[in-house]
Amino acid sequence: MQNDPPPLPESCPGGDGQPGRRMGAEAYRQGTISHRVPEELHRLHLLEQVLDPGTIAILDRLGVAPTWRCAELGAGAGSVAGWLADRCPDGRVVATDIDTDFLRRTNGPENLEILQHDAAVDDFTPGSFDLVHARALLSHIRDRDAVLAKMAAWLAPGGWLVVEDAVFLPAEASPYPEFRELLWAIETLFAQVQGSDVRWGRRIPAALAGCGLVDVGLSVTPSVCGNGGIHQEFWRANFTQAAAAIVQTGLLTTVEVDTAVNCLEDPGFSDLACLFVSGWARKPELVP
Ligand SMILES: C[S@@+](CC[C@H](N)C(=O)[O-])C[C@H]1O[C@@H](n2cnc3c(N)ncnc32)[C@H](O)[C@@H]1O
Repeated sequence: MQNDPPPLPESCPGGDGQPGRRMGAEAYRQGTISHRVPEELHRLHLLEQVLDPGTIAILDRLGVAPTWRCAELGAGAGSVAGWLADRCPDGRVVATDIDTDFLRRTNGPENLEILQHDAAVDDFTPGSFDLVHARALLSHIRDRDAVLAKMAAWLAPGGWLVVEDAVFLPAEASPYPEFRELLWAIETLFAQVQGSDVRWGRRIPAALAGCGLVDVGLSVTPSVCGNGGIHQEFWRANFTQAAAAIVQTGLLTTVEVDTAVNCLEDPGFSDLACLFVSGWARKPELVP
């Protein structure tokens, strides 16, 4: 396994010969999980099937109330925004994304506002939400700690910030040599093209506390490649979408990618590739 991946050539998605130079929304749009990729809506629906049960359990536990004002940032295909809109009929939900095409496919309820908004650049009025939620977003934003601090500022006193992200386990610890290379390649590709840090999620509880929030909580969902089921389908979609770019950037050959993806067909194959970490914390109430 190489430790020092080469910069992306100019012909590659996101490549300008300067790894990590093109950042922000445009970098995300150049990557393999951009809304511009025809298969991305399907991949987002798989992500929702993998993660919605855990997310909804957390939001239920926090007691989302009918009057809450909620922000769902980087809302993707919109399942959590839709759930919140149902749950807050007397409040409002703002569902944001840099690309709102998937959110605008159907007519939503009146209390659901869809807003094109770049969490790294754009703002909201401080103190305007009872809940701010972001899932699988901050790992893909370069200035993620600064964005988290902005999100905390958007909370009203007593409001909850819920942040969820994948934490890739170290690829080199995988027991399957071919698969190890693929995990390393996809992590490297995400970092180089989009500036993603798919290990940042480990820092969520500390980062929430660092924003001055209290009552910090944490839950973790393991994601296993192999063993069939929805996690396997989700991982296959990630690898399939990234395959061409992994080869084009010289990270792996087509044969290496195909061999690794084919591991998923082996009924005996099972590799714990990632943990999904969810953290939540509350803005202190104002002291009279
Ligand atoms: C991996 S998807 C997750 C979607 C959704 N949160 C979910 O978990 O089902 C990340 C989403 O964030 C959006 N996104 C990326 N960068 C963003 C930014 N700077 N501000 C707002 N949205 C962004 C992408 O367009 C995409 O829809």
